[in-house]
Amino acid sequence: MRVQPVAGALGAELSGVQIGALTDGEFDAVHQALLDYEVIFFREQELSAEAHRDFALRFGEVVGHPAYPHPEGVPEVTILEHTAEKPSKIECWHTDMTFMEKPPLGSILCGRVVPERGGDTLWASMTAAYNALSPALRDFVLPLEAWHDFSWGFKESLAEPGGRERLAGAVAANPPRKHPVVRTHPLTGRKALFVNRLFTTHIHGLTGLESKHLLDLLCEHAVQPQFTVRFRWTPNSVVMWDNRCTQHVPVNDHGLSTRVMERVTVLGDAPR
Ligand code: SIN
Repeated sequence: MRVQPVAGALGAELSGVQIGALTDGEFDAVHQALLDYEVIFFREQELSAEAHRDFALRFGEVVGHPAYPHPEGVPEVTILEHTAEKPSKIECWHTDMTFMEKPPLGSILCGRVVPERGGDTLWASMTAAYNALSPALRDFVLPLEAWHDFSWGFKESLAEPGGRERLAGAVAANPPRKHPVVRTHPLTGRKALFVNRLFTTHIHGLTGLESKHLLDLLCEHAVQPQFTVRFRWTPNSVVMWDNRCTQHVPVNDHGLSTRVMERVTVLGDAPR
């Protein structure tokens, strides 16, 4: 297996492996690359929905998403399908499902229908972002906690006709949660910023104004170009990211072209 880093802060392309048929040794090397580079890219993968789920299961328990459909018989796989009639609503940088008590360890995204141009995805390293804060700000944010809320992240979907009814179960199951603003990666021990624009509503213990400005500052700081990597999708490419130390955003610039991705998300642990 070849590991080719592709940007300064994060990201490596792994070649010479099929993730649907990894030996134990290859799996260990893939896992290590994920820890080292935070997001890893694979091209030309032969991966059924079942094999996609099974690869994810090697990292831990997997979880479906309360707000999206899945392929017949494989509820662990989430379909993200965007067409001219149904454009993507994912428009801002985020870490997946931080409204959960134990947000995901990571996600594995497979490009099923990839636009000829546009529709790239960007990731940002929250480790690099944390390390680049001034020592004074690092010391200030280190003991803070922030609230994350499903209903805030899905407010547009909830406001659609029938949205409240469709998502009632998900809203009830996901009350607001408090997490540290800076979390420590359970395996690498590295610290990473852990707030995002999609789900983080406010910083605990600060006034409304303080919280708003600090969140704005951290969220703007975190996604500066030097902390990011951009992936150009090709058919049958697959990406896995470490959700404990990254944010990501799709670029919705593929106009009328259909883009279909399938994602499997691996459960994580309570941020500390
Ligand atoms: C996501 O936000 O998990 C999806 C990213 C993408 O579709 O590129």
